Amino acid sequence: MYQHLYQHFLNARPNLLHCAPHSHYYWPDVTRQAQLEYWDDSARYADEKWGYFFSTKIPELQHNIATELHLSDPEQIVFAPNTHEFVYRFLSVFDAKQPLHILTTDGEFHSFNRQSRRILERGNVHLEVVPCQPYATFAERWRDAVGAQSWQLIFISQVFYNSGVVAPEPEQWISAVHDRETLIVVDGYHGFCALPTDWSPYEERIFYLAGAYKYAQGGEGMCFAVVPKGCSLRPEYTGWFADFAGLAKPQGGAVEYAQNGMRFAGATMDFTAAYRLNAVFALWRDEKLPTAARHRYIETLQQAFLEHIDTLNHAHLNRSNLVTGNCASGSYQHGHFYTFELASAEVVSELADRLKAQGVATDYRDRRLRFGFALYQTPEDFRKIQG
Ligand SMILES: Cc1ncc(COP(=O)(O)O)c(C=O)c1O
Repeated sequence: MYQHLYQHFLNARPNLLHCAPHSHYYWPDVTRQAQLEYWDDSARYADEKWGYFFSTKIPELQHNIATELHLSDPEQIVFAPNTHEFVYRFLSVFDAKQPLHILTTDGEFHSFNRQSRRILERGNVHLEVVPCQPYATFAERWRDAVGAQSWQLIFISQVFYNSGVVAPEPEQWISAVHDRETLIVVDGYHGFCALPTDWSPYEERIFYLAGAYKYAQGGEGMCFAVVPKGCSLRPEYTGWFADFAGLAKPQGGAVEYAQNGMRFAGATMDFTAAYRLNAVFALWRDEKLPTAARHRYIETLQQAFLEHIDTLNHAHLNRSNLVTGNCASGSYQHGHFYTFELASAEVVSELADRLKAQGVATDYRDRRLRFGFALYQTPEDFRKIQG
């Protein structure tokens, strides 16, 4: 139905049913021209290009993201090449010599998981990790943990990357936070441009983190953070973009920061992905395909997929092995991929190999096999899956 929008990627990979968009979504055709425009603008503006980007392309992208998330102030949005850069920037807000208390879950992506485990070696970091499973009690256990003590940093996903389960909405637990100073971050990578998301109730309190290379379909190199308004935090890991307006002043003395989201910026980056992402937002507008409409189509695909696997009577690919969760409070329980938890890592890798031989690309980690759903699939495509 929407395959005509993805002809370049589909033709480059013929006869493949790509079920790993949750890892890296195909790019719509419009992004190709956008990529070339970046090159042409670089030629046209050369060393003036930063001024050009920051007065045109970046405000356009901030506006697009603010509209997507229902934010009142686009200037609170700041960019980096990946979310890991923001993760480390958040950690650098805290004095490394002082004790640090962090609350998180065991469903966080490697960028946070690895970095937070590494800083345990400092010896003064306390990391409390709430297990996601059982999902049925997660919301309650998470809220209890949030309220159990003062935390300097709370970090949780919007949708867990290793299950597709939607985490409890902040409204379920935010009132349990003890301190106004607690830095709270939601990693929205698996929610952004997949699930309709209204961040306006939280924009003044919670950092939101996401990027382009999954459901936003703009490819790698463009992540962003929504910084709460009035934030006066001073990350130690800071680059010259964080005080763009002050660059003409003499540089010396205390380091100053922008008053908007840019205070969390780093330094020079490749903005090609900003062009691609703007082109994707324009495409959704032209096609009248906002996130809610795309999400409805994905739900149709998910239903067709489940109905197909029901017919297979498969030992592994069946509903009883699906990781499901009911810890979310709103309308969504699942992101845009399903996860099967199987008996062992060997069973999973053998099954993934068999699927690959049938022309079905999935991805897996340990005992979990993930099937993702994308606009460039049709409900009939799943017949290809024989297990
Ligand atoms: C939940 C989540 N956050 C972040 C990322 C990307 O991290 P980074 O931008 O640091 O590479 C991923 C990638 O799969 C993810 O699943």
